[in-house]
Amino acid sequence: MKNLGILLSGRGSNFEAIANHVAAGKIPGARIAVVISNKPDAGGLTTAKKLGLTVLAIPSKGLAREEHDRAVVAALKEHKVDLVCLAGYMRLLSPWFVQQFPRRILNIHPSLLPAFPGLEAQEQAFAYGVKVSGCTVHFVDEELDHGPIIVQKAVTVLDSDDEHTLAARILEQEHIAYSEAIRIVLEGKYQVVGRKLVRAVTAK
Ligand code: GRF
Repeated sequence: MKNLGILLSGRGSNFEAIANHVAAGKIPGARIAVVISNKPDAGGLTTAKKLGLTVLAIPSKGLAREEHDRAVVAALKEHKVDLVCLAGYMRLLSPWFVQQFPRRILNIHPSLLPAFPGLEAQEQAFAYGVKVSGCTVHFVDEELDHGPIIVQKAVTVLDSDDEHTLAARILEQEHIAYSEAIRIVLEGKYQVVGRKLVRAVTAK
């Protein structure tokens, strides 16, 4: 069994999709060991409690980045987490945190990176007038929204869209993409060559 550690700050719909997929056996060999939020009132924590998962609030308010990161990493290690999944975790990780889990931290971002990193990516893409956007699941490195890409899903921008309808369709794809990426990483049949994740060719 591989232990997932989920970090979130808000409503937690990506976490919920992962939890549903784990419960349905769609991420073989995975269990959610702990769900941690830096925001004690995050909706995702309430959902996680209802699901009977181990839940921790580690408030970041008033703490220096690395001090908070040390508390989070200690909790992840205590719960023997193999893979850290950032799911709407609104904190930049310190380089020290990243080094504690080399190639073992994933993030989801609501754009086709490297376009539109940072906050409100769907709004940025919509305002720019792109015809295609989507979402990206990537390994976390020391730069924001930057590490090697594991899965991307494209979403066509419709003439009838506003930023909310576009964000909603991107979110549907996020809920599929994250579990797909976790499966790929846990299965381990890939190499990262430079920035590229290259999957092993399986015989048909
Ligand atoms: C998602 O759009 C995700 O891509 C971004 O933050 C949002 C989190 O949503 N990183 P939720 O909390 O998973 O519902």
